[in-house]
Amino acid sequence: MLNRSLIAVAAIALASLGAAAQAPTSLKDAYKNDFVVGAAINTAQITGQDSLGDAIIESQFSTISPENALKWENVHPQPGVYAFEIPDKYVAFGEKHHMFIVGHCLVWHNQVPAWVFHDEKGNLVDRETLLKRMHDHIQMVVGRYKGRINSWDVVNEALDEDGSLRHSLWFKIIGPDFIEKAFQYAHEADPQAQLNYNDYSLENEPKRKGLLALVARLKSEGIPITSVGLQGHNSLVWPTLEDEDATIAALGKLGVKVVITELDIDVLPRDPSMFSADVALKLRQDPKMNPYAKGLPPSSQQELAQRYAALFGVYLKHRDTVSRVTFWGVTDADSWLNNWPIVGRTSYPLLFDRAGQPKPAFQAVVQAACK
Ligand code: GLA
Repeated sequence: MLNRSLIAVAAIALASLGAAAQAPTSLKDAYKNDFVVGAAINTAQITGQDSLGDAIIESQFSTISPENALKWENVHPQPGVYAFEIPDKYVAFGEKHHMFIVGHCLVWHNQVPAWVFHDEKGNLVDRETLLKRMHDHIQMVVGRYKGRINSWDVVNEALDEDGSLRHSLWFKIIGPDFIEKAFQYAHEADPQAQLNYNDYSLENEPKRKGLLALVARLKSEGIPITSVGLQGHNSLVWPTLEDEDATIAALGKLGVKVVITELDIDVLPRDPSMFSADVALKLRQDPKMNPYAKGLPPSSQQELAQRYAALFGVYLKHRDTVSRVTFWGVTDADSWLNNWPIVGRTSYPLLFDRAGQPKPAFQAVVQAACK
């Protein structure tokens, strides 16, 4: 009797070992033949203060992006003053774990200090001055991590919703070729680095058209653009799978890679007119707009899981074009969507819950790789 039950226990253990060997338990393993999978990481994770987050990052991801550490306002807060302590640790973290390391971002209209665009009297600077500031910034930041940061988001969010160029101060002061200049300076500073154009809502028809025209223009001018980043701040219904598919296919035809750079799926209520990542938009707090403060119901967990699986199905279909998928945060507790577009909500956009446990959406994404 004893022997038989021992044999049974051993058989179950062997069977579950076998099952474990077949089903990958990490995102990076599940997609290792397709694309690298990663997350944006914050300062607590970079400096080792968030051990729960670090354990997930190390076991699950093959690429990292810095959520804020390399944005202009943080890395270059004042003229001639650079703050490299956290970025240095960020790059060392990625190297220690043999990860594909992303730099985010060089030229953007948000999180850039006002001094960049103004002289001491408060007047806007001229084109040559701003180009020199852009050049020096890129030379210093990209140059410092030459050969170590593998890919840079060179220009972030230069397009408006209608597909025209956004009238940012970069555009107004330098003109439309601020984009070309940024890519040229980045290429000079590190000729080996992959260079990415990054933006949101590119799946929408007018913006997609503007993007395709921009990429075609850059390619025809010989600008060294490697990829386009679809930020991927998605909802349960936006973008449609057809639009995601068509956008990736169109970019592939133009000869650029596609990277999903800031993936999350918002399940909280939102006014449809607000599907953009314009961080300037903030709504006042309203309890009706925070329906899952005590937890996400199982039916919504399943909806989120199915939506994630469907999107990964599209990325897999285009595995020859898609080279990276990065989530914007590690656990739900880290997500910017707890504070945007409304401050102080309880959001559920990622694959790991607030305790760092994998959600049904995690299993769904791993399983999507096996199909
Ligand atoms: C944009 C930026 C990111 C981040 C998100 C919101 O998508 O590219 O760096 O700021 O907004 O947090």
